[in-house]
Amino acid sequence: MFSTETLKNHVAFITGGAGDIGYEIASMYGRFGAKVAIVGRNRERLDNALQKLRAQGIDAAAFVTDVRDFDQVKHAIEQTVARFGALDILVNNAAGNFHCPTAGLTPNGWKTVIDIDLNGTFHGCLAAYEHLKRSEHGGNIISIITMLGVTGWPGAAHAAAAKAGILSLSRTLAVEWGDDNIRVNTISPGPIGDTEGVQRMYIDTGRDELERRKTALNRFGTKADIAHAAVYLASDMACYVTGDNLVVDGGRWLKYVAA
Ligand code: COA
Repeated sequence: MFSTETLKNHVAFITGGAGDIGYEIASMYGRFGAKVAIVGRNRERLDNALQKLRAQGIDAAAFVTDVRDFDQVKHAIEQTVARFGALDILVNNAAGNFHCPTAGLTPNGWKTVIDIDLNGTFHGCLAAYEHLKRSEHGGNIISIITMLGVTGWPGAAHAAAAKAGILSLSRTLAVEWGDDNIRVNTISPGPIGDTEGVQRMYIDTGRDELERRKTALNRFGTKADIAHAAVYLASDMACYVTGDNLVVDGGRWLKYVAA
């Protein structure tokens, strides 16, 4: 059963935890009893998010970190363990993306997104591994991807390739690290209405109605829909679930394939 104690005595580390889906996961984890560390590049956004978490009575910390730099990620994870005494859950949520048809994409534009999304996720997994192994609850890695990484994503080849890479990495780690009692899963959100990404990619470009109709449920999701999935995967209710990709997209990818 889920309760406000579901994640009690768990410590979670959430990349990109100051914004949108990352913040929602941090906040929900906290309300379910976890201690949370959030990391991101922007000090002001982090401080603001930290204040909001603490105002809810959540035991939280924040560290300025660029996930592209392994040493920074390692340092932030070490600071988290020093502050809270353990690390049980890693959420790889930080992502960068912009709309750009591939013919116009520069090598550096490609590299930048691969560095943030795919390399950043690898950095988190590697830096967290020794700590997750020692988790008394069993370690947990959850990475936020998208089914557009599987179907292809015209206009965002860099992000699609990175997300497909994260799916593959997660499946590999689920097997390699299963003996260490670490579960490794991904969540594939669909279009989440109240996020900067959907605002920029769909609403600002006038494509929101079209994108809404692409989902089987004919609506955008909410940040809470994704945070609920992240609570489930981190909880004991999912203790036999590893190597899975939990699709929370209103049926978008199936409609895309079936239509
Ligand atoms: N179209 C085409 N190329 C773009 C671009 C766009 N909209 N935005 C960035 N790039 C290219 C830049 O031109 C540069 O390549 P170049 O050196 O060959 O010119 C490269 O990407 C790096 O850009 P830069 O602005 O230096 O990177 P950054 O590290 O400051 O920014 C991004 C990271 C690129 C992901 C940026 O889009 C960003 O910060 N976005 C906000 C966060 C976000 O994307 N959240 C995810 C929501 S889904």
